[in-house]
This record gives sequence, C-alpha cells and structure tokens, in this order.
Amino acid sequence: MLTRRDFAGGLALGASALSTRALAQPTGDFAPQTLGALAGRRGCLYGCAATTFELRDHDFAPLLAREAKILVPEYEMKRAVLEPRPGAYDFDGADALSAFAQRTGMQFRGHTLVWHKANPPWLGAAIAAKPRDDFLVRYIHDVMSRYRGRVASWDVVNEALAPEHGRRDAMRESLWLRAYGPDYIQAAFHAARAADPAAQLVYNDWGCEADGPKHDLFRAATLDFLERMKARGVPIDAYGMQGHLQAFGAKVDQRKLRIFLERLDALGLRILVTEHDVDDSGGPTDVSLRDRAVADASRRFLDVVLDNRATTAVLTWGLSDRFLDPPGLRARLAGYSPRLLPLDSNLQRKPMWWAMAGSFSGMRPSLAN
Ligand code: G3I
Repeated sequence: MLTRRDFAGGLALGASALSTRALAQPTGDFAPQTLGALAGRRGCLYGCAATTFELRDHDFAPLLAREAKILVPEYEMKRAVLEPRPGAYDFDGADALSAFAQRTGMQFRGHTLVWHKANPPWLGAAIAAKPRDDFLVRYIHDVMSRYRGRVASWDVVNEALAPEHGRRDAMRESLWLRAYGPDYIQAAFHAARAADPAAQLVYNDWGCEADGPKHDLFRAATLDFLERMKARGVPIDAYGMQGHLQAFGAKVDQRKLRIFLERLDALGLRILVTEHDVDDSGGPTDVSLRDRAVADASRRFLDVVLDNRATTAVLTWGLSDRFLDPPGLRARLAGYSPRLLPLDSNLQRKPMWWAMAGSFSGMRPSLAN
C-alpha cells in the first residue's frame, strides 16, 4: 500500500555536505545534548514514532532511547493490527513498544483508536451487517483498559474532518459517520474518559500547519469543530497537530499559525505536535539543499509552536531516514531516498536535528549561505 511518504522522485546528485556551522555546543562538561534533553529544559517532551522492526536495529535502538522521552507506535497500535479478527486481539507489537518505552524511561502515546484508515478488512462489513451493534465503544474500552497506567496520552479520534467533503460541520464522510452519525466523536471521547480517566485524550489531525486557502479553511473548520465539542462538554484535553510539512510546497505562515494556536490555548486545550516530518520531494536533487530546506521549514514551524504555553510535546514521525526506504526501493525508482527526519540513514544528525535543537533551546543554528 502506498503511504503518504511515497514521493515524486528526482535524481539525487552527489550529496555535497552542507557546511552547517553547528549550534554553539553547550558550555560546561555536559554530554552532547539530545533533543529530549533540550526540549525538557523548555518544559516540553520530545519523542518520535517507532516500530518493533526499528527496535531490532541494534545501532538504532540505543540512540532512540537517548534522544526521545516519549514514544508512539507508528503502526502497531492501529485497529488493523490490534484486532485482526472480531474480538481476537493481538497486542504483541504494541506491548513490545510499550515495554521498550517503560524500560527506557519514556512516556508512551497510543495511536489511534478511531480512524477511517488502518481498520481490519472485516470491520466495514460487520458494521454494515449489524449497524445497531457497538463496534466503537467496546473496542475503545478493551484497548484502553489494557494499557491503563502505561499510555499517558491517546489519539482517540484521528482525521475526522474533511471540509472538502462539503458538510456544514466539515466532518469526513467515513464508515464511522455513516454508521453512528456525527455523535460518534463524543461517544468515542466519553468512552475513552471512562476507560482511563487519567489519560490525556487527544483529537489528532493535519491540515492546519501551512499557508494557503485550503489550510485557512481547515484551520477555521478545526476551531469551529473543537469549539462545538468543548461547548458540549466532550472530554477532549488536547489538539494533536500532526506537523507533516513540505520543504518545497506550502510554507508555514507564522502569523496565521500563531493565531490558530492562541485560539486553541484559549479553548483550554493543550497542544501536541504528534507526527512532525518535512517532505523533501519536489525540490532540487542536491541533498544539501534539500536538507537545508527541511531544516528551515522545521524551525519556522517549531519556533511558533514552542512559543505557545499550551505546547507540551513534539514528536517526529520517526527519528531516522534509515527506515523510510527499505530496501532502497524508492532510491532505485526515483533516484533518491526521502530525507524527512532529524537523523540520516547512517544515524548522523542532519540540519533538521540542529534546527530542532535550536528551536528547543531558543538558539538559532546558523546555516551556511
Ligand atoms: O507490516 C506489514 C507487513 O507485514 C505487510 O507485509 C505489508 C504489506 O501489506 O504491510 C505492512 O504494514 C504496513 C505498515 O505501514 C507498516 O509498514 C501497512 O501496509 C501500511 O498501510 C502502513 O502504513 C502506515 C499508514 O499510516 C497506515 O497505517 C504508515 O507506515 C504510517 O506512517 C502512516 O502514518 C499516518 C498516521 O497514522 C496518521 N497520520 C498520517 C500518517 C502518514 O500517513
């Protein structure tokens, strides 16, 4: 299945290293900083998504444990994996990731309970056959009860908005809306609150980060939706802003983003960046120019996000480019591999790492012109 990360390729020329003048190293005898440590000084958690496949990489796993303070399963906590057959749960992958987080002192996020994608093949037919049955609340109860006390924060509902679908409430036409109507959102969040009263409950989505008419519309629809939910007493604690950016596409308008985040704060919502990465397709093929554009986009975004007192966590959607293109298939097809994340495929820090470190520490990496 092709995923968001499939990219229009270009031909990568020889990488010319970007002479990034590194951030002034922290003074004193500190060990080299990590993103987790730098974010922590700002009262923010830094972490990333991971898979059990990545945990089996003996070079990567220790680095992940050093850099991240919070972990989220990229795939292995989605319903297609957790409930492959009705009522027959498979928690092995999620348990392994949860155990790694616990062993390494990280917080753990759950992603995601209710989504229109990554559902098991049987679900759609089952709902159609027995529309009066509960395929929502029971699942939320079963999964959240198992991880009570181990998952600090849940993406309860993911990507429920789609203004382009034309509904007045801007909701996405999905199997959930068709089965249970717009109230499925509040049913999900109330079920989540009942299942684990201590967990942070997050509405997670994308589309509000960048500039342009589509994003303006999405920001307005998102604020309207969240205001409606809060007015009805729906227990949404935080907005998860996925943070998928484009290095060579729509740019972040810092003023618009700042205003949007201030409106979220005014609603009493915490803000998490839940899936940050910067798609570097569609630009020049020179690696150093791509890395620099990725770093600039990340910094422009995080500088605004971290200025808002409601921001409590920033997670990247992975830590290293190493796992984006196994086994180099896309490099063969398109001529270069995606470079979306803070570390390159050799686990070396890229300009994006330094840009994020600069945002977290309030310093500015000085990138070579
Ligand atoms: O692990 C299986 C493998 O055993 C099987 O042979 C193979 C062939 O079907 O599939 C593998 O699972 C794939 C999984 O990624 C792990 O690589 C699924 O097919 C594939 O659909 C899945 O894609 C994930 C996608 O969500 C759908 O769940 C992407 O990795 C993941 O990055 C993407 O993440 C989403 C967030 O959850 C929500 N926000 C957008 C974001 C990016 O699309």
